[in-house]
Formats: sequence, structure tokens, C-alpha cells
Amino acid sequence: MTTPHEMHPDEWIDPYEKIMMVLGVLMLTGMMGTLLVAAFAFGIQVPSPEKQVNPNTISEQGPFSEPGLRDLGGGKYEAYIIGQIWFWNPREIRVPAGSTVTFFITSKDVQHGFLLWHKNLNAQIVPGQVSKYTITFDEPGEYPYLCHEYCGIGHHTMSGVVIVE
Ligand code: CUA
Repeated sequence: MTTPHEMHPDEWIDPYEKIMMVLGVLMLTGMMGTLLVAAFAFGIQVPSPEKQVNPNTISEQGPFSEPGLRDLGGGKYEAYIIGQIWFWNPREIRVPAGSTVTFFITSKDVQHGFLLWHKNLNAQIVPGQVSKYTITFDEPGEYPYLCHEYCGIGHHTMSGVVIVE
């Protein structure tokens, strides 16, 4: 191995520094690989908005003019939910156990966050965008939903509940 004295000072890299550089590149490559495998082999991707709506007119036209539950039959439901300062409309949703509910959620004013407890639903609710998630409720019980994006003085009052009977 060449010693520091035989090399030009600009070419010499401390062996420990070299190890750390190699480790750094390996870690970055590994993480990038994990990301690509997750995205393309397992199909884990950031949800894209279902569709766009005009937040100023959602109360007058379209499915959000009547927020709430639609019974599609066969244990399938759709829930249209509006977030606004500072409540969710509706505040309560009741379905029988075994139901599959597709949530369509949007905001009327500012950005909110929709977190459904005990279920894998955690979404940013952005005015103008509709977020769509499908959740199956097998176990009876209460599944609270609340706002987890600070949206002003009444942020902590933005809560509701899915009651599975
Ligand atoms: Cu809505 Cu915080």
C-alpha cells in the first residue's frame, strides 16, 4: 500500500474516509433499490387524487352537495365527506359489520388531514382534490376519524366516528 508520503497530497484519501464513502454509496444504492422494488414490484405508490372539484361550489352541485353515506347494496357503501373549519361533514357514519366503505373526501377551505383510527387510512385533504380510499369494516366497534393537519383555532374539534354495528 502506498503511504501518504509517496502520493500527491490531493490524491491521498484517509482509509477510514474511504470506507465511509463506500458505505455511503452502498446505503444510497440500497435505499434507492428498495424504493424501486416497493414502487414497481409491490405497487406501493402515493395515491393520486381521484378527481378535482371546485371547493367553492361543492355544496351546491355534485355528490358533495349531500355529504354522507350511500348504500350501494351488497354490503358496499360510499361515504362523501367534506372537511371544513372546523368539523367533518358528516360527523357520524353507521354501517353494519362486514361492510366495505369507499371514502371520498375533500376540503371546502384549507388543508386538513383525515386519520381513521384502527384502520390504514391517513390522508391529506386538499381543497379542490378528492381523495378516495376503500376500507372494509369486519369488526363491530367505533372507528374515530379526526383531523391531523393543523388548520386553525378549532383544529382539535374536527372529529367524527364510523360506528360499525
Ligand atoms: Cu382540520 Cu385540523
